[in-house]
Amino acid sequence: APPLREIAARRGLPFGVAVQADWFEGDPGFAATTAREASMLVPEGSTKWYDLRPFESVFDFSELDPITQFAARHNQTVRGHTLVWHAAMRKWTYDALNEGPRRGRALLETHIDRVLGYTAPTIRDWDVANEAVADPWNSSELLKDTPWLRSIGPDYLDLAFRLARQKDPTLTLTYNDYGCEHDTDFDDEKRRRVLALVRGMRDRNVPIDAVGLQGHLHRDNSFSARKVTEFVRSVLALDLKVIITELDVIEPETQSDPAARDAKCAEIVHAFVSTVLETGGCTAVLCWGVSDQYSWANTQPSLTPAEGAPGTAGSKVGGPARPLPFDDRYRRKPMWYALARAF
Ligand code: XIL
Repeated sequence: APPLREIAARRGLPFGVAVQADWFEGDPGFAATTAREASMLVPEGSTKWYDLRPFESVFDFSELDPITQFAARHNQTVRGHTLVWHAAMRKWTYDALNEGPRRGRALLETHIDRVLGYTAPTIRDWDVANEAVADPWNSSELLKDTPWLRSIGPDYLDLAFRLARQKDPTLTLTYNDYGCEHDTDFDDEKRRRVLALVRGMRDRNVPIDAVGLQGHLHRDNSFSARKVTEFVRSVLALDLKVIITELDVIEPETQSDPAARDAKCAEIVHAFVSTVLETGGCTAVLCWGVSDQYSWANTQPSLTPAEGAPGTAGSKVGGPARPLPFDDRYRRKPMWYALARAF
């Protein structure tokens, strides 16, 4: 079979995967599969504050550079993820944000200026803000209570997008979130809130181009084609695109028959991806990894990443989760065929 990047390219669609520089080291299977299958890469952690900003005075691109170099060698584009998020920052950053709005704004300005300056030749597409909408189960507010919100105030998102556009007017700027995929009360409300957020941004003339649907699908949560279609159409009606940014399948239990699990995961992935693609407004599909060998689902089976330091997801070898299109020995799984059929 031709690789996924080729199948996706037939309909003008980039297919991407999340990677970390160290996965390429000493693992020829990973490098070969990533080079062959993907036309786009996104660093799983190397463009987050935690990696880029070990100290306030330091911008560290050493984990990103090998990824952009690999991408250049294999004719792949790179997405950036993410300029404002409540998680994956060092203690110094949380402390600085506690010092008030002036400090918070200055921090964001400097970060966006330096990071977009450095990555301009290689990264043309950014998740500017990630997971800023509040979770309906613990808040009735639109925005999540985060260090950024507490520091700068509710316009911190507008500010981030404006700074990014100012720095480089030709970048694609995306708002990325989870919880917009399933047929649950939680997702119903999350979809309403994400829409309210981006509609507000459009009304205020904030420069935003796309909404990212993370697509961490839950194997046993039903998914509603009708609701997802309706949501995506509402996004498109605001003259925005959508991107599937972090597709994988989170399983509530991993003990039962792998073949049955794989079949079920493939079914969900096919339904979701083909529903989104049928709207005609999806500009890329990315999985949060390429093979089960490295996945955050192996160590962090929840949708909500831990606050603060990144966990160890991705470092566990041969774990029991099966969230991605290739197994831990780089053999195609039913999810691979589901994507091929959806493209
Ligand atoms: C995750 C990484 O996969 C982990 O390795 C890390 O420990 C925490 O972050 N939504 C996102 C991603 O937007 O940034 C998260 O990535 C997964 C959920």
